[in-house]
Amino acid sequence: MHEHILVAGGAGYIGSHTVQLLLDQGYQVTVLDNLSTGHARSVGQAELIQCDLCDKRALLSLLDGKTFTGIIHFAGKSQVGESIAEPLTYFDNNVTGSLNLINYAVQAGIDRFVFSSSAAVYGHPSSSVIDEHHAIKPINPYGMSKAMVETMLVEGARSQGLSSIALRYFNAAGAWPDQGLGEDHDPETHLIPNVLTSLLPLHGKIHKPGPVKIFGHDYATDDGTCIRDYIHVRDLAEAHVLALHHLKGLTGALMLNLGSGSGNSVLEIIQTCQQVTGREIPYLVAPRRTGDPAVLVADNSLAGELLGWQPQRNLMMIIEDAWRWHQKR
Ligand code: UFG
Repeated sequence: MHEHILVAGGAGYIGSHTVQLLLDQGYQVTVLDNLSTGHARSVGQAELIQCDLCDKRALLSLLDGKTFTGIIHFAGKSQVGESIAEPLTYFDNNVTGSLNLINYAVQAGIDRFVFSSSAAVYGHPSSSVIDEHHAIKPINPYGMSKAMVETMLVEGARSQGLSSIALRYFNAAGAWPDQGLGEDHDPETHLIPNVLTSLLPLHGKIHKPGPVKIFGHDYATDDGTCIRDYIHVRDLAEAHVLALHHLKGLTGALMLNLGSGSGNSVLEIIQTCQQVTGREIPYLVAPRRTGDPAVLVADNSLAGELLGWQPQRNLMMIIEDAWRWHQKR
C-alpha cells in the first residue's frame, strides 16, 4: 500500500529526524508546521505546509483533497519553564491544536495516529524506574497538556475507533549531523546542548556566556546531581516508524515509554562531554530548578515487547553526534 504520512510539527527537533527516516524508508511525507520554533530547512524533500493547528479553518482548507494513511503529531510547545509562566498559551497550543488535528483525523477517516507525549505526564515519580502503570500526575502545564491529549486519544478510540499510540519520551538528545539535523532551540534550556555550546563562540541568544550551571547538587543521588534517561533522537525517530506499523493491527489507545532504560547524572553528562570533546568544561553549582525530580528513568520494556524497539545508540554516541552537529551549525 502506498503510504502518505502527515507529520504535524515535522520541522522541529524530533519531528525532523522522523521525517528524514520516513523519507529514507520510501514514505511520502507532508509536514504541517507553523514554523514558530521549527525550521523549513529541516524537512528535507518532504512537502511543507505552513499552518497553525489552532487555526481550524486553515487546517481543513489546506488539507482538503489530500489523503493520508497515518498521522504523526509532534506540534506543540515544549518548554516546562515557559509553560509555568504562560499556562494558557500552552493549553491553547498543545490542547486546542491537538484537538483540531484529532478531529481532522476522525473526519478524514485516518485511524492511525502517533502522538508525541512526555515523561512529564508522570510528575514527581514515586519510583526511580517508571513503567506505564505509574500514576499520571503532571506538575506543570506542559505535562498537563500532554496528559489531556492522551485522554482525548483514549476517548477518541472508545467513541470513534481512532487507533493511537502516545510515545512518552524521556530526555531526547543527540543529532543526525550527516543530514544537517540537530537540536536547534532558541533559547536552549536542555543540558547536553547547553554543555556543548558553552565550548563554542557566542552567537545570538542560543549560547549563554560563562560556565555551565548545574541546577542543584544536593539531591539524593550518588553524586548529588539529578539523574535522567537520555535517549538518542534517531532511536526516537525509529520508534515512531515502528509505531505506525504496529497501529495497522491495533484498535484502541496505547501509551509507551521511550527511554534508554538507564540513567546518568548531570555530572556524568559533563564528564562524558569532556571525554568526547577533549576539552575542560567549566561549571558551577546553582540553586535547584523548580520542579526537577531527582531521578527519572524509563522502564522501556513495553515498547520493546510491542514494537520490537531497542535503542541502538548509547550516551557516548548521543554526545558525539550532538558535538559534531553543534560544531557544523
Ligand atoms: N540541567 C542543568 N543545567 C542546565 C540544564 C539542565 O543542571 O543548564 C539539569 C536539570 O536540572 C535536569 C537535567 O539537567 O536535572 C536535565 O535537564 P533538561 O532541561 O535537559 O531536561 P529535563 O529533564 O528538564 O526535561 C525533560 C524533557 C521535557 C520533559 C521533562 C520531564 O526535555 O520535555 O524531561 O521531566 F518535560
